Amino acid sequence: MIISGVQQALDCAAHLLLDAGDPVWMEEPGYPGAAVVFRAVGAKICPVPVDSEGLNLEAGQRRWPRQRPRLIYVTPAHQFPLGVTMSLRRRLSLLEWARRSKTIIFEDDYDSEYRYSGRPIPALQGLDRAAVVIFAGSFTDVLFPALRLAYLVVPSDVVDIFAAAESVSTHHPPLIDQAILCDFISEGHFARHVRRMRELYAERLSVLIELAGERLTGLLEIPAVEAGLRTVCWLQGGILAERAARAAAKYDVEVVPLERYAYGRAKRNGLMLGFAAVDARELRRGVEQLARALEEIRQPLKTPADRL
Ligand SMILES: Cc1ncc(COP(=O)(O)O)c(C=O)c1O
Repeated sequence: MIISGVQQALDCAAHLLLDAGDPVWMEEPGYPGAAVVFRAVGAKICPVPVDSEGLNLEAGQRRWPRQRPRLIYVTPAHQFPLGVTMSLRRRLSLLEWARRSKTIIFEDDYDSEYRYSGRPIPALQGLDRAAVVIFAGSFTDVLFPALRLAYLVVPSDVVDIFAAAESVSTHHPPLIDQAILCDFISEGHFARHVRRMRELYAERLSVLIELAGERLTGLLEIPAVEAGLRTVCWLQGGILAERAARAAAKYDVEVVPLERYAYGRAKRNGLMLGFAAVDARELRRGVEQLARALEEIRQPLKTPADRL
């Protein structure tokens, strides 16, 4: 199905598949745009931690032993916001468990086109033999957000109810925009655009990493970035994320504390930094300003005399 954004797909899935009180597993930290939709239909958000392989299925089973989720929302290609790629092993376990427990998986593939390193792993939807996966991809990050076009692959037994819901709500996303996008893809412009942008964003990422090495060491650490338009980074030296964001805003740099993406108590002290939308000059200015902001609020290093 062609739809008006992943947001509409989430809203549609929530209304069609969830009843008030139904448990929904969400990655912790995770995408607030999904949580808000599930909460709006009265579902119960069950946060599940994310480790280096993506959503930690076993931790979820331990944390929510008596509540089989009705739906699991995941971003396996590039976890939002931590950037982890779900391993093949975890994907297969998740699919098998969803099949056995009759749970639906909502796979949000919002920005998988921008991968700079590491091999892409097949989507859950492509590995699914039990028709338990709803797959959503978007043109928001890969083209532009104002387009409001996305696509949805749903299991065949729910195609009719999704199509009916679409026809009684929006009917369809604007057909002229769809036709133009269709030509854009079939004439090869889309593939060229993705290739060009991937190179440009990879270049900007390497500029960010180089500048961070020069100017942010001891203040902020950027982990290896495999994909996406933004990255998580970890604050050093006892600097707290909310304080860092306020200090950075005074220097006209926008960073988002990671804790804003947490639902439960597991708050991690990190920031989200965008790098794809800014050129090298702006990146240099941003890193310099951010460094100044963080230096201002960093705890002064203890001198030997202080320790006595
Ligand atoms: C995790 C996640 N899902 C989905 C989207 C895109 O949603 P939509 O297609 O409604 O613009 C975004 C946008 O950045 C996102 O970060």
